[in-house]
Amino acid sequence: MSNAERRRLWRDIGVFDGLCTLPEPMAVIIEGDRVASLVAMRDFDEASAQGCQEMGRGGVMTPGLVDCHTHLVFGGSRADEFEARLEGVSYEEIARRGGGILSTVTATREASEEALFAAARPRLEALIADGVTTVEIKSGYGLTVEDELKMLRVARRLGEALPVRVVTTLLGAHALPPEYRDDSDGYIRLVCEEMIPAAAAEGLADAVDVFCEKIAFSVAQCQRVFEAAMAHGLPIKAHAEQLSNLGGTAMAARHGALSADHIEYLDEAGIAALREAGSVAVILPGAFHILRETQLPPIAALREAGVSMAVATDANPGSSPLYMPTLMLNLACTLFRLTPQEALAGMTAHGAAALGFKGEGRIREGATADLCVWDVDTPAALAYAVQPGRLRQRLFQGELTHVV
Ligand code: NIG
Ligand code: FE
Repeated sequence: MSNAERRRLWRDIGVFDGLCTLPEPMAVIIEGDRVASLVAMRDFDEASAQGCQEMGRGGVMTPGLVDCHTHLVFGGSRADEFEARLEGVSYEEIARRGGGILSTVTATREASEEALFAAARPRLEALIADGVTTVEIKSGYGLTVEDELKMLRVARRLGEALPVRVVTTLLGAHALPPEYRDDSDGYIRLVCEEMIPAAAAEGLADAVDVFCEKIAFSVAQCQRVFEAAMAHGLPIKAHAEQLSNLGGTAMAARHGALSADHIEYLDEAGIAALREAGSVAVILPGAFHILRETQLPPIAALREAGVSMAVATDANPGSSPLYMPTLMLNLACTLFRLTPQEALAGMTAHGAAALGFKGEGRIREGATADLCVWDVDTPAALAYAVQPGRLRQRLFQGELTHVV
């Protein structure tokens, strides 16, 4: 039987549908690569089980997880920086000394495409083993046209080699490379006039991101990058208000950004701008935890304003060397006081929206069968315990790609 004709049935299963937990045990039928039916067990008609492969009972089904913010293609390691920070040196100070992102830039420039691919593959496999079916991967450690394209090519190849949808983001404006030390406007010109056009021409970037921060680029410089991206038809997003409040989020939202990410220092005006634009607030509890940040993102105010909140790993060698999305569910609850359902929605429906896939990351009739079945009793239990090995089954576009 071809996969397109195959019908699979799960009985008596708890369902988190991407936005909320359904109140009753459900029966779910997947046909080919689509969700064919989703009914409460007590309304289930046994006749519809005919021709179905029985996939099991119990557990919890969620949409496949969407990790909408990662930097998992990079060379080298930053364990030494981790130690320095434990001794009291700040993330900003390390960056000012030419370490931090720039030390990864050196290692990434030195690495071949093959070496970057080989290093990134197990990182991505770790995300997949923890339920990810869609992942965004940023460039941003090359900072030359060729090295940025090299990173994006590696990201694309990862998506071809592994059963996961990879969305690529050009983050040329991540840090100022040493060869432009006294000419940050010159570097922004390179990003706008060469990097973005080259990435667009080769179809290597699905979006464009910036790091709007004192140790990176100003609001005005980021705006130039956005205008260039939009001229090439590319959606935009921003690392903003991570270490200080510069107003990058509001500017990004005014330009229709898909998301503003980090946002610990976001103020009321920034929240209002996100709400008006319908941009997603991406919160990154891994970076908050690793940098031992104390400024909390304004979760209650975002919730009140009705801004969608996504949660992601921010997997990267510096601020978040964490490759476990279900750990982020836990951290989003413990550190940021999200409810377990909000955290799960942040890694499913809202994570999808942060990538421009509004309406995806859901389990409902007709949806693509990207989903996970977990060995837990309730969806909240996924955020409660941090325990690898709970993923019982994983479907990527209707194909069973993970069975423990
Ligand atoms: O999302 N904030 C800037 N960029 C990354 C960190 C990158 C790094 O430290 O290598 C982030 O935290
Ligand atoms: Fe990031």
